Amino acid sequence: MSHISNKKIDLAISNVTKQYIYQNQLFTAVDNVSLEVPKGSFCSILGPSGCGKTTLLRMIAGFIQPDQGDILIDGKSMLQVAPNVRPVNMIFQHLALFPMMTVGENVAYGLERRSVKRVEIKQKVADMLRRVGLPDASDKRIDQLSGGQKQRVAIARSLILDPTLLLLDEPLGALDLKLREHMKLELKQLQAEIGTTFIYITHDQSEALVMSDFVGVMNKGKFEQLGSPQDLYYRPQTAFVAGFVGNSNQLSGQVANVNDKFLEIKVGENTVIRSANVQKMNAGVSAALFIRPENIAMSMRPPTDMVSDNQLEGNIGTILFDGANSSVEVKIINTELSVKVAMPHTGLSTAFQPGAQVYLSFNAEHVHAFAIDVTQHGKH
Ligand SMILES: Nc1ncnc2c1ncn2[C@@H]1O[C@H](COP(=O)(O)OP(=O)(O)O)[C@@H](O)[C@H]1O
Ligand SMILES: [Mg+2]
Repeated sequence: MSHISNKKIDLAISNVTKQYIYQNQLFTAVDNVSLEVPKGSFCSILGPSGCGKTTLLRMIAGFIQPDQGDILIDGKSMLQVAPNVRPVNMIFQHLALFPMMTVGENVAYGLERRSVKRVEIKQKVADMLRRVGLPDASDKRIDQLSGGQKQRVAIARSLILDPTLLLLDEPLGALDLKLREHMKLELKQLQAEIGTTFIYITHDQSEALVMSDFVGVMNKGKFEQLGSPQDLYYRPQTAFVAGFVGNSNQLSGQVANVNDKFLEIKVGENTVIRSANVQKMNAGVSAALFIRPENIAMSMRPPTDMVSDNQLEGNIGTILFDGANSSVEVKIINTELSVKVAMPHTGLSTAFQPGAQVYLSFNAEHVHAFAIDVTQHGKH
């Protein structure tokens, strides 16, 4: 975030906590969370269902009050400010457009409630519809629009009030896969053009990676990591982030040796995997290892050099064909281990068949290792 930290901060959340009472038990849904969002950014809050995302967003909107901490928008504390006068607008999963009104009437609604003059409303609505790419849709009924167009009307209706923040709670959740892929790009473009700060909540890591300038990964009411999509993907700081963002092979083992270049982690009976020692672990520690399928090179021939930190030999098991995202399962010889490896695209695609003998190599920097808290059971 440092590269944009000279910008004005639109939203500052500081040490915010929210507890619910559920079946006579106190439950901490948002646990001492802090976050700063610079003006004009696309910020996503990413985490599994139930981790506290909606609770956090509703506190920003003012529908619920934090038990502790403060929320500042434009540098001003919102604790005593009612939801309808906060400079924010919220878009829900089901958009909540008025089905009996035209597109233009939907977009005009907020301005009419503020008793803005008719001519001014008319001009602002036309301008807003143009900006979201629906210049001729003003007289259409909502049910004459596609899913993507409805999305844009919902955004136009919110942005016409010129909020500091647009809050979006899983707005693509109800759309089918193809449309969701399309809307990801569209939302990102729209945000970049309009420049309003977006706070976007999702449980879908791909949505967060594609659209965001930065992402807060949330788990059990806390942020595990705040960073750019590249930070989360290439430099996960916790096992949760490594497992939740992108696809990875997950293995477990025990640190056998530590030297100044890497860790040697014993995985199973007779396999040692070398990993960068980012987390500064010591010998004897139980570790979770994450290796991405695309970071493992696969060849039909034994490697002729020794440049890779890790070299394994195996046989192809199942082939998981998925076009450009195809991968194969490789069973490592003399072990119980198997790893998923991205299918190379530049060679002969028929070379890699079930049963074929293959040689795998990957570097220590591509193995993300984290100490496992062995006192914590029942995870994963
Ligand atoms: N009004 C409430 N009363 C009690 N528990 C709640 C209430 N709202 C949410 N929770 C609980 O708080 C946790 C976080 O919920 P929520 O913020 O909706 O998560 P998310 O949006 O990440 O799925 C969940 O375990 C949920 O069951
Ligand atoms: Mg939610």
